[in-house]
Amino acid sequence: MNTRETLKINESGHLEIGGADTVTLAEEYGTPLYVFDETHIRKMMRVFQDTIQDAYNGNGLVLYASKAFSCKAIYAIAKQEGIGIDVVSGGELYTAMLADFPAEKICMHGNNKLKREIEYALECKIGTIVVDAYSEANMIDEEAKKRGMIQDVLIRINPGVEAHTHAYVQTATPDSKFGFSIADGTAEKMTAYVLGKKNLRLKGFHCHIGSQIFEKQSFVLAVQKNLKFMSHLKQTLGFVTETLNMGGGFGIWYTDEDAKLDVNGYRGYLNALIETVKEGCSEYNLKLPFITIEPGRSIVGEAGITLYTVGAIKEIPGIRKYVAVDGGMFDNPRYALYQSKYTAVLANRANEVPDELVSIAGKCCESGDLIGANMNLPHAETGDILAVLSTGAYNYSMASNYNRNFIPPAILVNHGKADYIVKPQTYGDLVRNDTLPEHLK
Ligand code: LLP
Repeated sequence: MNTRETLKINESGHLEIGGADTVTLAEEYGTPLYVFDETHIRKMMRVFQDTIQDAYNGNGLVLYASKAFSCKAIYAIAKQEGIGIDVVSGGELYTAMLADFPAEKICMHGNNKLKREIEYALECKIGTIVVDAYSEANMIDEEAKKRGMIQDVLIRINPGVEAHTHAYVQTATPDSKFGFSIADGTAEKMTAYVLGKKNLRLKGFHCHIGSQIFEKQSFVLAVQKNLKFMSHLKQTLGFVTETLNMGGGFGIWYTDEDAKLDVNGYRGYLNALIETVKEGCSEYNLKLPFITIEPGRSIVGEAGITLYTVGAIKEIPGIRKYVAVDGGMFDNPRYALYQSKYTAVLANRANEVPDELVSIAGKCCESGDLIGANMNLPHAETGDILAVLSTGAYNYSMASNYNRNFIPPAILVNHGKADYIVKPQTYGDLVRNDTLPEHLK
């Protein structure tokens, strides 16, 4: 089991997160329930920003990748910690603005930004937009011109680095809907194009090579390719790169097949990137760029768990045992999408030895609705509280109302004290936008 200070087993043999007893939380708030430890989130935001401070004279900014978990509270925490954020939709931007997040510290991504999203971003006076298409460059330029503004932009580059992770989350292989390739010259062409736009100020480049990556070398290689490209552009176009955004992607612990990094481990990844930037700049005689990174999963992933109540248990002799919970693919679609692996614990009997192999099923009407197959658990009984660990990233943010189930509420625990950060849905919420055309009334 994860032995970080965020999770503990207390004297009653219950799992604790951030100093709060999960069995009590389940009683008070009901299940399914997303629970986040604020201390862990802040610690991760700080370690990245402190590393930039210590190893790079503070000449950079951490941008929390809000696609991992977006709600007002996470933006309020990021704001207090003095970091920036990345957003990928009008909805994430709107949520951040509601939380009074400083617009100049927001970077907007997306491979197909909509006109209304670009208009809204400009109205908000967003700091940076990452351009990922000619049509986008045109649209941002036109909209900025209408408003008498000059918009800071980066160009998304595909450095052609294959990161070893699940294929669905690889984004910088030659066949990618993201970015412009350095290798085939399209990145340079795009640079020349953007430099020709009067209402765009090109600050530099962005790349993101994938997610849940532990291989330091993949990150380092991508940065090296970027620096070589920056040097090339200085010679061919006379363009001096001021900002280099190195994306996100640091891996986290889900099961004991994954490395369990502590803060120094993450510091090590960022230090390696910073060293690569310094070495490259000295080799190519480039000005040290302002650097940004976009960690999402590594900031919130291990800070969150999901609590469920065990319901139906079904043993199919010689085949498999299903332990069904009151959640499923509507609160965590990652098994259905990626066959992701998780560690589960019986929160009310956390000391018991996990001596059974079970599949944890959800309550949706489809066979693929599992939280995980072949997971180790102690003998589970109906009514037990089941905690699935490391669900802070890409669970709530990817949840849906499939089968008209409720997206579970989320609570934030701070030194033992809990509060809602996302309130429970009601049946009323589910039908809020339903309407009947006249002939069906
Ligand atoms: N920046 C960009 C441009 C990205 O596309 C992503 C993730 C990040 C930053 C943050 O990466 P992180 O530090 O969280 O690894 N739904 C998938 C993950 C998709 C990630 C997409 N982009 C999952 O559940 O594993």
